[in-house]
Amino acid sequence: MKPYFVTATGTDIGKTYITAGIIRAARKAGQDAMGIKPIMSGYNDYNPEASDAGQLLTAMGKPVNEQTIAAISPWRFAAPLAPDMAAIRENRSVSLRSILTFCRIAAEAAPGLMLIEGVGGAMVPLDSFYTVRDWISALEIPAILVAGTYLGTISHTLTAVEALQARQVNVSAIVLSESLNSPVPPDETAYAMAKFVPRIPIFTIPRHDNETAFKRLAWALGQYEPEAMRA
Ligand SMILES: Nc1ncnc2c1ncn2[C@@H]1O[C@H](COP(=O)(O)OP(=O)(O)O)[C@@H](O)[C@H]1O
Ligand SMILES: [Mg+2]
Repeated sequence: MKPYFVTATGTDIGKTYITAGIIRAARKAGQDAMGIKPIMSGYNDYNPEASDAGQLLTAMGKPVNEQTIAAISPWRFAAPLAPDMAAIRENRSVSLRSILTFCRIAAEAAPGLMLIEGVGGAMVPLDSFYTVRDWISALEIPAILVAGTYLGTISHTLTAVEALQARQVNVSAIVLSESLNSPVPPDETAYAMAKFVPRIPIFTIPRHDNETAFKRLAWALGQYEPEAMRA
């Protein structure tokens, strides 16, 4: 198993887009790859295909229905809010302990690449105590940090890297998913950013003709041999 946690500098940056793209590229290259999305907020039963889990299932070549969605996304909330706020509206809560167990079992069962898509940004609250950062840190698996290419992304990205590393999270790749209205080409942002994170490989995924970029990223992730997760 090669598990990775896909987190981001914020919401709507491209976690699902990048996760689905990696899964597609890896599968096309004959590599086993799957994704899970343990927590979904803003989930609408009437349009499961459009949900994050629906997009991941489609990338995996699986049908999208109630059972397949539930299998990769057990914590689903209707309100399009941070998990703590969305859960409270349904008199529910998000148990980090149960989520960790779910992720560990899923990762152990995966023969190849296993991408765990987080929720929101790297420090979105899960409840009154924990944020996504605690979730990644407890799993002890490498993180892929998805960031944009909008003006201001370098500060957001370096801040997220610092926050993750402060909890011993290994940020094994930064993926710059090209934002709408980028002031400069993605590679220029990557070049400027790289000086401050010289040990972290930075990948860029343009908005168009990005098949080769995804192929390269999937290959690089497949090469990496992360340590087994602690039981
Ligand atoms: N590199 C990209 N090329 C094209 N569209 C993108 C790219 N990155 C993100 N998007 C689009 O931006 C929107 C938000 O991305 P999404 O993956 O849903 O973000 P997140 O999962 O982080 O909330 C989606 O409509 C997605 O298709
Ligand atoms: Mg998403």
